[in-house]
Amino acid sequence: MTEQSSDIRGGDSRLPPKRSSESQVELSQQMMPSDANPLGNVHGGHIMKLIDEAGALAAMRHARRPVVTITMDSVSFLSPVRVGHLLTLRASVNWVGKTSLEVGVRVEAEDPITGEITHTNSAYAVYVALDDAGKPCSVPPLILETDADRRRWTDAEERQKIRLERAKKKKT
Ligand SMILES: CC(C)(COP(=O)(O)OP(=O)(O)OC[C@H]1O[C@@H](n2cnc3c(N)ncnc32)[C@H](O)[C@@H]1OP(=O)(O)O)[C@@H](O)C(=O)NCCC(=O)NCCS
Repeated sequence: MTEQSSDIRGGDSRLPPKRSSESQVELSQQMMPSDANPLGNVHGGHIMKLIDEAGALAAMRHARRPVVTITMDSVSFLSPVRVGHLLTLRASVNWVGKTSLEVGVRVEAEDPITGEITHTNSAYAVYVALDDAGKPCSVPPLILETDADRRRWTDAEERQKIRLERAKKKKT
């Protein structure tokens, strides 16, 4: 398939399909002393909260429904984030199931004095869209336009398969 042609996958075919670019979220926030330990390193938990917020917003924009986080993959922090740094989170929908969506979030930290930008981490979280009764409800299909979209879909589909197998094993 060529870079230009698009295909539509997952979701409920009765709902209008959407591109991941339509729900992408970019959040930027300067890190404050209240976000950090006494040495000035930002708490991992604070960054995880921001990842979940950015991811949930992208999922809500795709579904146009409230969502809850059902799972978040393990997160590793590749470099420290310091008080004063500008943290930028970019979230985009990689994959949609019937009621669930996987969102990838890339986190970068910028030192506003030197301009140096470091990749802090990337994370994947799965959200479930809810109807008015708080039950899982269908989400729109995802339009894949580029080879990168299709690669992200394939990787996300594989991760979701592994998550569901793990969850099944835990139950038994
Ligand atoms: C999310 C919730 C409503 C799902 O209810 P449920 O009856 O278990 O729903 P289902 O078993 O039908 O699963 C719903 C979707 O989640 C997916 N899912 C279930 N367990 C999963 C897991 N461990 N990892 C990834 N996806 C999972 C299912 O595959 C299904 O996706 P699909 O419809 O696209 O195929 C319910 O588990 C819940 O309320 N959890 C608490 C959420 C929460 O409080 N989060 C923190 C605050 S936001």
